[in-house]
Amino acid sequence: MNLFNPSKEEFAALLQEASPLIEHFFENNHFSHNFSSPSPLLGNLKETSSLQKLIEDFQNSFYSGINTAGQSYMGFIPGGGLPLAALFEMIFSLYNRYLGVPFAAPELLNLEMESIKWHFPLFDFSPHTSQGLFTSGGTQSNLMAFQVAKQKLYEEEDLYRCTVYTSNQTHLSVIKTAKAAGILSKNIRSIATHNDGTINLQELSWTIEEDRKKNLLPFFLSANAGTTNTGSIDNLLQMALIAKAQHLHFHIDAAYGGYYALTKKGAALFKGIEHADTLTLDPHKSLFFPYGTGLLLIQNHLGKSASLKEKENYLTNNYFSPEAVKELWDFNELSLELTRPPRGCVFYFTMKILGQQRFVDCLEERIQLTSALHKELQQLSSLKIFPYSGLSLVAFHYQNNQETKDLHQRILSHEQFFLSTTEIQGLTYIRVCINSFRTTKDDIVKLLKQIKAEIKTEVDRSHKQRMSS
Ligand SMILES: Cc1ncc(COP(=O)(O)O)c(C=O)c1O
Repeated sequence: MNLFNPSKEEFAALLQEASPLIEHFFENNHFSHNFSSPSPLLGNLKETSSLQKLIEDFQNSFYSGINTAGQSYMGFIPGGGLPLAALFEMIFSLYNRYLGVPFAAPELLNLEMESIKWHFPLFDFSPHTSQGLFTSGGTQSNLMAFQVAKQKLYEEEDLYRCTVYTSNQTHLSVIKTAKAAGILSKNIRSIATHNDGTINLQELSWTIEEDRKKNLLPFFLSANAGTTNTGSIDNLLQMALIAKAQHLHFHIDAAYGGYYALTKKGAALFKGIEHADTLTLDPHKSLFFPYGTGLLLIQNHLGKSASLKEKENYLTNNYFSPEAVKELWDFNELSLELTRPPRGCVFYFTMKILGQQRFVDCLEERIQLTSALHKELQQLSSLKIFPYSGLSLVAFHYQNNQETKDLHQRILSHEQFFLSTTEIQGLTYIRVCINSFRTTKDDIVKLLKQIKAEIKTEVDRSHKQRMSS
């Protein structure tokens, strides 16, 4: 078999040979996590191997660490990985068509554009002045948001006076990318939050005023539409008003929460999202696409979207008539990436088959499961529950920080569910983020039973200790 350049038949045989690995995935999806010491790394790249041997050697490597694609994964945020999208990723990789410039694959590029345009009405973005680009994820989208905002500066040197407003619950990627975009660390503000994790608007307004007095240039306001820690949603409408009054670029990081705006409940929670100048969404979080599928929507780009336009002599369209490709967006002018994977095409094919409603139903169900769990947890008097935002995340604290960490470890020790922890204003919380399309009602019932049993065991143990001392 020519493995380097297989024929149609040989590739079909390869698929057949690789199929045990695929079957194994579906058969073992209940696997949650395994934190026993990883096996010493097998072999090295100096020697080649057969596919069969490779599968034998590395099959178990998929069962070390956390199964983020599993139904029992309720950890950080992104899970899932729609099989249909995985299939299309493989097929598009096989075709490996070039999307760096419009003339290389105009019809496929048009699919990417359609995938982006599909989003505009969902968030009430104007179809006439909006654009967007698929990215590798929330971090790259946030970076590109700064890039878009920088076009509004009159002088490049002004960047050193520019201030950025985030809250103490803003995702670290916003801070990281602000710095990468050239904002000075000392000009990045972290505004206090209320007890429900939403930004304190008074402190925000006051800080902006103070910065103006110091001859700084208030520039970029980043709102949270679903914080990573607790799912909290800032008052987007009020923040939009502040941004407008203060002439700030209004960015919303909706990497986790954004797609919940499609649900009935979510629509009310995200009022004001339509005013974003830039909006970070992450199909690889709340639309369950495979990792590497992010998105930035850009509104009111003032016709200056080509922020990164550089003249490239070797990339001139000498092939199609200019008329034939004039409607196509040149993502090369908008994005840092030139050669890039066809994320928007995979999105298009997957969405075209599954349809929007399938996603909406799934997200509605994630909310129902979470709010049911939240109600049940509220009945447990030993827990302090973080104010529930209405999305798919509940965070709770048990007795004190050490007890919370111990409870978390006891839950993990059953190797049935993966939950994570976080710290907010000195308190440790266990986070349950129900954001995998595979998680069922049955899983939540079992999880709740486990939490209750662990709390009861702990209470009984303490009681016994007190009696014996
Ligand atoms: C709110 C928020 N923004 C941005 C990011 C960064 O996204 P990514 O990991 O796709 O780069 C995350 C990741 O969890 C997030 O939760």
